[in-house]
Amino acid sequence: MRNTIAVMNTKGGVGKSTIVLSIAETLAAYHGKNVLVIDSDAQASVSSMLMSTTSLRKLQGDGRTIVVYLVSAVLRDTQIEWTDFVVGGVSDVDDAKSVYLMPSDMQLTLFEREVSKEALHGRLRASIGGLLSRARIVFDVVLIDCPPGLSVLTECWLREADFHLSPTKPDYISVCGLDVFRRFQQLNPEMGFAENLGVLVNMKDKHSAEDEEYHRWLASNPENRCFEQVVPRLNALQQAARYHNEERSFSAKYPGEIGAAVRGLTTEILARLAAAEPASAEKPAAAPSVSPAAQAPVAQAPATQIAAPQVAAAQPAAAAANVQPAPAAAPIAAPAIAAQAPAATATPVAPVAAPVPATAPVAAPAVAVPHPGRA
Ligand SMILES: Nc1ncnc2c1ncn2[C@@H]1O[C@H](COP(=O)(O)OP(=O)(O)O)[C@@H](O)[C@H]1O
Ligand SMILES: [Mg+2]
Repeated sequence: MRNTIAVMNTKGGVGKSTIVLSIAETLAAYHGKNVLVIDSDAQASVSSMLMSTTSLRKLQGDGRTIVVYLVSAVLRDTQIEWTDFVVGGVSDVDDAKSVYLMPSDMQLTLFEREVSKEALHGRLRASIGGLLSRARIVFDVVLIDCPPGLSVLTECWLREADFHLSPTKPDYISVCGLDVFRRFQQLNPEMGFAENLGVLVNMKDKHSAEDEEYHRWLASNPENRCFEQVVPRLNALQQAARYHNEERSFSAKYPGEIGAAVRGLTTEILARLAAAEPASAEKPAAAPSVSPAAQAPVAQAPATQIAAPQVAAAQPAAAAANVQPAPAAAPIAAPAIAAQAPAATATPVAPVAAPVPATAPVAAPAVAVPHPGRA
């Protein structure tokens, strides 16, 4: 089953994290899917949208984040159980209890620095590939929330995930972000790259002629595979990013127009995933065995207490795996073993050429100026 999706645009502020949140909750609540959200952004935006600050800080303090997982797997070359870093019982939507999260931490930036310093790109890519190959079997859909830019870690997700999905605002700068991304993809085709699941027009203002113009222009390029469904700019979606301690229903969190939009979007996503599947492909195993947290109300049982993937609740994740995670507050230590030569396929992120100035013609896609009105 090809079901791992990196949500990516090199531009920030286009709604990547918000879209990951709403897709995950809609897939869970409306389509009954088991969804894993991997937070790969050091800002931990989607983590803080899925749980209270207190719960997130506790997890970070306990070292149950993607950072500690990657430090162990890549810098220390230690075998650890990925499910120890997955928490259930996240999301404040009462019907979205099958959303699971691998939270992030600010330390992720330091980890990436170590990877680059020690030239461990090959090992990082192998670890990411291994993680996704296991998550792919356990979950119906895996969503990776990527930060803006093209870090070494983001490059690994993009090369190892099955698909990428790119939210964009219908404006000049955001579409430039897409263009840079596409040119990056073309640089080393031999290294593998996720398939385009689609470009999503987000934050479209229905009263703006310019938004409409950009939307049409994006949709007219078949390479974009624009989703039919557009997500309008609505205050309700901005509000949805704010985690509530009291649970709410799906329709309370995603009312009216925004609810219809996210349901339409997830229906399209599932259809595209199904269409990409070979006819003989079998469904993955049913429910993930990661967390027993589903029934616990959010307000009474924060994620940190209820999530105990495959180990007893009282048992720290590190003890279960017989490794000592780096404390969240401590700087990331130097690799415990000597740096190995990266795998043959691995290279650092290749430099991306600057976006083309706004006067160039629209026609040539590789250097297209993302402004429909300036052809
Ligand atoms: N469809 C939308 N309507 C209104 N606000 C939105 C919408 N999508 C995202 N936002 C808001 O835009 C801002 C940036 O979103 P975010 O998901 O953090 O972007 P990114 O992850 O790409 O940096 C946030 O304040 C978010 O609430
Ligand atoms: Mg984000």
